Amino acid sequence: MEYIVINGQKPLKGCVQIGGAKNAALAIVPAAVASGGVCIIDNLPDINDVHNLANAIEKLGATCRFLDKHTLEINAGSINTHIADYDLATKMRASYYLLGALLGRFGEAHVPMPGGCDFGYRPIDYHLKGFEALGAKCVLEHGWVKVSAEKLIGAEIYLDCPSVGATINIMIAAVFAEGTTQIENAAREPHIVDTANFLNMIGAKISGAGTDIIKINGVESLGCGRYTIIPDQIETGTYMIAAAITDGDITVKNIIPKHMDPLTAKLRDMNCQVEEGPDYLRVYRDGELKGCDVRTSYYPGFPTDLQPQMATLLCTASGTSVVTETVFNNRFQYINELKRLGANLKVDGRTAVTKGHCVFTGAQVGATDLRSGAALVLAGLAARGETTIGNVYHLDRGYECFESKFRSLGADITRIERDE
Ligand code: UD1
Repeated sequence: MEYIVINGQKPLKGCVQIGGAKNAALAIVPAAVASGGVCIIDNLPDINDVHNLANAIEKLGATCRFLDKHTLEINAGSINTHIADYDLATKMRASYYLLGALLGRFGEAHVPMPGGCDFGYRPIDYHLKGFEALGAKCVLEHGWVKVSAEKLIGAEIYLDCPSVGATINIMIAAVFAEGTTQIENAAREPHIVDTANFLNMIGAKISGAGTDIIKINGVESLGCGRYTIIPDQIETGTYMIAAAITDGDITVKNIIPKHMDPLTAKLRDMNCQVEEGPDYLRVYRDGELKGCDVRTSYYPGFPTDLQPQMATLLCTASGTSVVTETVFNNRFQYINELKRLGANLKVDGRTAVTKGHCVFTGAQVGATDLRSGAALVLAGLAARGETTIGNVYHLDRGYECFESKFRSLGADITRIERDE
């Protein structure tokens, strides 16, 4: 078993390069399956979810070749099955995009119910309602989602809530639907825009991505192309919070500052300086950290994927802070582990409250999911003494070179292997 060991209370200083966006990569790589030709994707994060997805696409018959650590060439021309590999597809959430891609291109897809982080019940009913509106038949049996259609026909689809996954999945399938599809109450996250830009580059006709109404005019086939993925908003935010929690001074580079506005505003409320350049942000404290209230929401609201990291930071600030999780119904499981490090958070339903002024003290803890793992690392970086974090495979699903990037900023952090 691998563990991350941190000796905390070192102020982190320096520059860190941010990689490509995980959730954009996990949508664009399956979208390339729809192309039927050769696509080259640049700036992919070198993380386990991307490798598992590339393996899952190879199992469909495609050829996937990493030209370097961050560049993947996908030849989807040789795909010869619409049935996804069970073990690989259940390792991550984003395998659900194979439904839209294979349904669009071949009229049929069998993909197991997806895996991914456990934030309570995570249905995919909006995805399926969307496919049905396009004329597909959807069946759930023996843990598999089976969708098929003689022909997809454009439709008006209203999403009950702006689901990221449903928006992207329906958009990918609708690329091949005859006529026009309109997705209303669509999600607006940067990776929706990135996926639409990629699909448009290879011949799709999508407009409105980034707004709550997306229009897709169907095409018969897609071509080939080379595309560079946007920087990761959540990796960026994690290092920005690291600067604040360790009383350090970090510049996050190769980013889109606009994507960070919801976090930047909160850090400024908390007494941090956030200096903005064209593709970087510099973060450092400007006095004692002040508490504030945070409510997660859909983009451009505060991202739920930064909620655990932010709640951890708020524990160390002065005064009472209230964190409200509106996107998922069970995203506070990590708090029991955070309490081992001394967090003073009280949870009631979808709200967590801290009175602040917490000084974390090192302990042995375990990540319960990807971003909770990041939150525990942040607490460990701020903690007095040694923190050992287990279940690090969660972190490897979503953060590239996590320890070495923190080490380059001055953290005392290592990965060890220990027999159980
Ligand atoms: C994606 C991201 C995840 C992020 C989340 C919200 C990927 C691979 N994962 O997850 O990191 O935390 O967006 O930004 O990109 N819902 C339904 N039915 C559905 C779909 C969603 O009820 O068919 C509900 C969910 O339970 C949740 C809410 O809608 O309460 C939002 O979920 P959604 O935006 O779809 O998140 P994911 O695509 O699962």
